[in-house]
Amino acid sequence: MSVNRVRGKTILAVALIVTATFTPVPVSAQVSRSPVAPRREQLETAVREAYTKFKSDTSGKNADYIPYLAQVDSKLFGIAVVTADNQVFTLGDVDYSFSVQSISKVFTLALAMEELGPDKVFMRIGSEPTGRAFNSVPAVVDMPTHTGNPFVNAGAIATTSLISGKDADEKWNKILAFYGRVAGEKLVLIEDVYKSEAATNTGNKALAMLLAKYERIYADPFESVDIYTKQCSVGVNATQLARMGATLANNGVNPATGEQVIKREDIPYILATMTMAGLYDSSGYWAWHVGLPAKSGVGGGIVAVAPGKGAIAVFAPRLDEAGNSVKAQKVIEYVANKLDFNLYSPSSVGLK
Ligand code: DON
Repeated sequence: MSVNRVRGKTILAVALIVTATFTPVPVSAQVSRSPVAPRREQLETAVREAYTKFKSDTSGKNADYIPYLAQVDSKLFGIAVVTADNQVFTLGDVDYSFSVQSISKVFTLALAMEELGPDKVFMRIGSEPTGRAFNSVPAVVDMPTHTGNPFVNAGAIATTSLISGKDADEKWNKILAFYGRVAGEKLVLIEDVYKSEAATNTGNKALAMLLAKYERIYADPFESVDIYTKQCSVGVNATQLARMGATLANNGVNPATGEQVIKREDIPYILATMTMAGLYDSSGYWAWHVGLPAKSGVGGGIVAVAPGKGAIAVFAPRLDEAGNSVKAQKVIEYVANKLDFNLYSPSSVGLK
């Protein structure tokens, strides 16, 4: 039997074993059909191929500086795609709730812009790559803005400090409720992740105090770190994360609920920030090879957004040196290339 036939049989067997679901959800009155969303068959084929190709990849390792994350089963692997017209395609461990971690930074940025407008957020946080690790202390010292951008820890803690509220609880509840509207369903804190991170986050407290020295944090530094730690500990599954991405892809309108959750004029700022710093100091590699705004978290999730088309979320806990899920990067790169999603490629808008 030829190698190809063996491979073909293996792929077929895996395809049959893996639980895959495709849900063409009826389009609500508010959600219009996207003229550019990929066709169901194309999407399904690309995602299945990627799942099979990368399923047994064991490179990278779980984050361990947050003790809880070291214990998460490294073999978990889920892929979810939600299109701008609310087609949903899922494969693998898509019901497992993992901590959103740094991907939360995208949505706190959205909420800060909702409250203050983009110009004030830009002035108070900045939007330049640091070229350093996401938790770098030297970056805070060296960057002219000190905060750097909303996605490194320092800039993210400062962004959280911008959220208004009479006390810490009110600010936290506002953030959590906002994430839920972006996801289209209520989200909850994973208490054990929060406790694990809160007991070990001395580095983030140091960053917050350093920002205070430069007058670049806008509420009590330790209160801001605590709310930030909670936002990072919010649980999402791959499907919820893909829907959060699809809300960005759909001009701020959640494709499942039809609600305009994020102002449409804020979307380009969010996607630009994701392009520039979504994968930290791997963002250059990512722009070169994939060409889609994306955001990673040390919990093992990555969400990538194809504007007007939809979003793909992948969860797989093993990370590379920069803190980005190895398998998630490979899957998204594969699917994005197959579906011609690269924003910098003329063929992404149909020019062949
Ligand atoms: O503050 C931290 O270090 C974590 N809560 C979040 C970092 C993170 O997710 C970086 N991502 N790749």
